Amino acid sequence: MKNLTAQQLRSLWLEFFSARGHTVIGSASLIPENDPTVLFTTAGMHPLVPYLLGTPHPGGKRLANVQKCVRTGDIDEVGDASHCTFFEMLGNWSLGDYFKEEMIRFSFEFLTSPAYLGIDVSRLAVSVFAGDEDAPRDEESAKIWQSCGIPKKHIFYLPKKNNWWGPAGTTGPCGPDTEMFINFGKPCKKTCSPACDCGNYLEIWNDVFMQYNKKADGTYAPLQQKNVDTGMGLERTICILQGKTSVYETDVFKPIIAAIEKASGIRYGEDEVSIRAMRIIADHIRTSVFMLGDPNGITPSNVDQGYVLRRLLRRAIRYLRQLNAQADALTKIAAAVIGVYKEAYPELTLNQEKIMQELSREEERFSKTVANGLKEFDKLCGYLQGGIVSGKAAFKLYDTYGFPLEMTVELAAERGLTVNTDDFYKHLSAHQEKSRAGAEQKFKGGLSDDSQITTRLHTATHLLHQALKTVLKDDGANQKGSNITAERLRFDFSFGRALTKEELANIEQAVNAAIAADVPVTCQEMTAQDAVQSGAIGLFSSRYGEMVKVYTIKNYSKEICGGPHAARTGELGTFKIVKEESSSAGVRRIKAVLE
Ligand code: ALA
Repeated sequence: MKNLTAQQLRSLWLEFFSARGHTVIGSASLIPENDPTVLFTTAGMHPLVPYLLGTPHPGGKRLANVQKCVRTGDIDEVGDASHCTFFEMLGNWSLGDYFKEEMIRFSFEFLTSPAYLGIDVSRLAVSVFAGDEDAPRDEESAKIWQSCGIPKKHIFYLPKKNNWWGPAGTTGPCGPDTEMFINFGKPCKKTCSPACDCGNYLEIWNDVFMQYNKKADGTYAPLQQKNVDTGMGLERTICILQGKTSVYETDVFKPIIAAIEKASGIRYGEDEVSIRAMRIIADHIRTSVFMLGDPNGITPSNVDQGYVLRRLLRRAIRYLRQLNAQADALTKIAAAVIGVYKEAYPELTLNQEKIMQELSREEERFSKTVANGLKEFDKLCGYLQGGIVSGKAAFKLYDTYGFPLEMTVELAAERGLTVNTDDFYKHLSAHQEKSRAGAEQKFKGGLSDDSQITTRLHTATHLLHQALKTVLKDDGANQKGSNITAERLRFDFSFGRALTKEELANIEQAVNAAIAADVPVTCQEMTAQDAVQSGAIGLFSSRYGEMVKVYTIKNYSKEICGGPHAARTGELGTFKIVKEESSSAGVRRIKAVLE
């Protein structure tokens, strides 16, 4: 077996496929363009969907690349030997050109030939699709593997759960696959297989035979062309080639771990707790650097990709604090990440200044939040004067101020208090239950849907708009602008003076009355002209085109808008105006929240 560095493996991969007629294409951005169904590029095939569906690719029918990917679904597993939130995928594609026979032979040659990876056949195992109502049992792939020299006992037939890949979002190209594993030769039981999670099999490569298109109704239609889409995990493969037991000991992570050792004064490997913390720090900072340094780079925020980035960074900072790392640890470790990847991903050096600035800013913001949390905690201790910190209070510290439970427990102990941790977990699970379709799920799964919180605020904005007109008795109180984040809505409207306390209270009351009525929000499409005639308010401009959507909230509001909206007003909670101020001459600004 060859001992290759990450850069050598990248080059060897591209050489192999280029010598076999493939055009080498660059890595696409980590932030998908024109695809609202996913937050991040999760596989090399993702940017290629149109070509898998039949559009001719300028590079021809055979392509290969090394793709940056982010998957946050297994975030809780990060810290073990092989899970990472960022990884590189070595990929090759046949767009309606070769299929199973040629692909499996390519895979076998690349894995086992001494000119390439030189892995001993006895160390390999493969799986093929067992078949079901959507696609037949893949005897063909099994036969090809056998003819290459993989013994029958190392070929496993597995169901869709294991041996089917795609689509990347909810609909699109997908198909049965054949996966390749390193077999460590220590099966946990007689029936141990690659489907078992005992660790005896480590997946390194997946050949997907993309011949179906999953439709919105859940059915699979045959694609007009039979494609191949493959992906080899770079980190896992170099881990095997370099003879390491964890990806964190390979050449891509070594300098990053060394920077963490230096910043914390702790040697990697000293104890289990710090090993896990150091791996989490290394993984999360690496992913954050790639997100910030991407050509479509993002910054920390409370929604979508920015939220994922914020959570990763804050988690890394918390673990750095646990290790008592130096103040400038974050940027030092980020510099090590850039050092490792500067040749393969020059965009990181190009965006170095922005990366460092954003990291320092986010650390500062987080420190402030923690400082506010400490004030809240001291207040709480003042009331308690000894005794028990409730689960509710511990949860507030966690949820609002980003306090990990362990930190609250420690702080409490310093003041002679204990924390009701059982009760904390009850609050935590109730919260997770509530936000299942919201931000938490997005963080876990990487899937984008319109956050429930912003959707509700959007509906509240319509109620506010009408309430302003009604309470101020001014039909000219028109929307001048609006901006919604997960925390609040901001609404600018034309009006010549500050609102009185009474007016503000009446507006709040009008919106809350509509919420209390729990009425449905309905939507109709019509021409802009009909919409105006029907009395719908809203920003009219040619960008609406001929047909517009009109959202009606019973007799509380009728407004032209693209949506999305809550299904019923009862979902909204309590509407509260937190600020009313001047925005510019003749324009007022209201900020409001839903509690
Ligand atoms: N798209 C396939 C995967 O991600 C190759 O495993």
